[in-house]
Amino acid sequence: MSHDLIRLRQPIKDDLVHFLSWSKDEELRHLMGWEYPNCEDEMTAWLFNKNQNRDRRFYIIELAGKPIGDIELCNISWRSGQAEIKICIANKEYWGQGLGKRALEIILKEAFETFELSEVYLRVYAFNQRAVHCYEKVGFNLRGILKRRDPNWQEIWLMSLNKNHYKRSRSLMGA
Ligand SMILES: CC(C)(COP(=O)(O)OP(=O)(O)OC[C@H]1O[C@@H](n2cnc3c(N)ncnc32)[C@H](O)[C@@H]1OP(=O)(O)O)[C@@H](O)C(=O)NCCC(=O)NCCS
Repeated sequence: MSHDLIRLRQPIKDDLVHFLSWSKDEELRHLMGWEYPNCEDEMTAWLFNKNQNRDRRFYIIELAGKPIGDIELCNISWRSGQAEIKICIANKEYWGQGLGKRALEIILKEAFETFELSEVYLRVYAFNQRAVHCYEKVGFNLRGILKRRDPNWQEIWLMSLNKNHYKRSRSLMGA
């Protein structure tokens, strides 16, 4: 699978059908810890709201023209130069082929080179080791762990990547 076939683009109304199908997936909800709205009206409002927000850039991940998930920079603080990243490759047949890594590389380039942010961060459940590995591969480091006494509470890892680290790893790769 060529990673060059990955592209990020703005969502359009026709994408609603994909989000509606992804929203029904229990495993995705479990892994991500957040939910897509699950009816068409709510989904339309949700998507419209995402595209209107100044503190957010939300994209469909396309593989050779086929929508396979979404990725966003959210909670962007333009003043402090920080933003959170969320990603979901919703089509499971594409997991573990380096496509999540490629989508992250594209959004990191936008965050650090176009928007000139100074740091990006994300939250991930500790049990989601596929995601953790993928984040580590693009340079994220573990910064903190959120724990509760409640045994049903899933441990959350906070990971981040700053601009200097990003630039250093790019120059080491000769990019
Ligand atoms: C998390 C996600 C974005 C990763 O993207 P991906 O394309 O599947 O991941 P990549 O192929 O780029 O990298 C995955 C890495 O984890 C490794 N991996 C795969 N399955 C694994 C597992 N079960 N446990 C540990 N590592 C695993 C892979 O081997 C790979 O590392 P390597 O290249 O060193 O071999 C994607 O799987 C996804 O969206 N999953 C569902 C939603 C989700 O979990 N979102 C993240 C919420 S924080």
